Amino acid sequence: MTEAILLVGGKGTRLRPLTVHTPKPMVPAAGVPFLTHQLARARAAGVEHIVLATSYLAEVFEPYFGDGSALGLHLEYVTEEEPLGTGGAIRNVASRLHSAPGDPVLIFNGDILTGLDIEALVDTHRTTGADVSLHLTKVADPRAFGLVPTDGTGRVTAFLEKPQTPEEIVTDQINAGAYVFNRSVIDTIPAGRPVSVERETFPGLLESGAHLQGMVDSTYWLDLGTPHAFVRGSADLVLGRAPSPAVPGRCGDRLVMDTAEVAPDAKITGGSAVGPRARIGAGARVDGSAVLEGAVVEPGARVRDSLIGAGAHIGARTVLEGAVIGDGARVGADNELREGIRVWCDAEIPAASVRFSSDQ
Ligand code: GTP
Repeated sequence: MTEAILLVGGKGTRLRPLTVHTPKPMVPAAGVPFLTHQLARARAAGVEHIVLATSYLAEVFEPYFGDGSALGLHLEYVTEEEPLGTGGAIRNVASRLHSAPGDPVLIFNGDILTGLDIEALVDTHRTTGADVSLHLTKVADPRAFGLVPTDGTGRVTAFLEKPQTPEEIVTDQINAGAYVFNRSVIDTIPAGRPVSVERETFPGLLESGAHLQGMVDSTYWLDLGTPHAFVRGSADLVLGRAPSPAVPGRCGDRLVMDTAEVAPDAKITGGSAVGPRARIGAGARVDGSAVLEGAVVEPGARVRDSLIGAGAHIGARTVLEGAVIGDGARVGADNELREGIRVWCDAEIPAASVRFSSDQ
């Protein structure tokens, strides 16, 4: 049996800033809590037992996912009293694993959306006899990431901090946040204190001569660290660019939940998801956006690349572009909100109060 650990804790796991009440892993992406996609993809790759390692609000996961049987999984939950970092969180759940010392254990960062071939990563791990195998992805601009160079056989040669100068960009390969650990390696991580896998565990393993294998898989990959990325990820799931067996219904230009009401002449495009009991008024346009449960978009509003939180209200003719509107917020008619604006949960913006001008 293959088992996995899913890391869903840490300090930055809510949408930053707190514009949506729901913690990020539970914010719907393409109609279901984001975490569902990761769980369903792991299940499809043959994983049966998953331990969710969290450091906050475990009570939001368990009532929804329960014992995991609805997804064909056996799910367990472990909550850290204080965030233990990625490595500490992995070590903290070791006692819940059933694997024998030489068995492979999958580990996934909880905020990554990817089409990674999970079985290929496990195969790579087995055939190379590595202690740890890592999914690596190539990015166009590696400056914001720690770099992971490999030799001709794919063996990892170093873990480099974010490059500060062009000379330090020695590779475009970065850690993509999915690993296979030999069970015995997990037991070597120190217990009871914060440990970072990238800054402590991996460099320490390299130094001790362990075999760390990189597998470059240039499939769909997106770090959902920002609300904007989250909206992009949701749209890509709906469009079918990001593969997930958990998208309800067929992939296409839009996903409208059964109980949503969409005016016949409203245009929903670009992978937009319209949640249950949401309403989209006459002539409104919603493109590449996520409209969560019970939110209302009044007639003539134009919404692009935006997240509208549960129960939020967008007034007539209002324009939203790259906006994040918190749960329950009310944006009156005839406003124009653009370029990364974030409206707090339950905040109110009166009609015709805000317009945007770049003065360019
Ligand atoms: P460290 O490697 O510990 O320094 O964390 P990081 O800040 O590099 O990790 P990042 O923020 O990229 O998070 C990667 C994944 O690990 C995300 O899914 C987080 O939710 C999760 N995570 C980060 N820190 C913790 C933690 O303290 N506990 C748990 N359970 N998960 C964490």
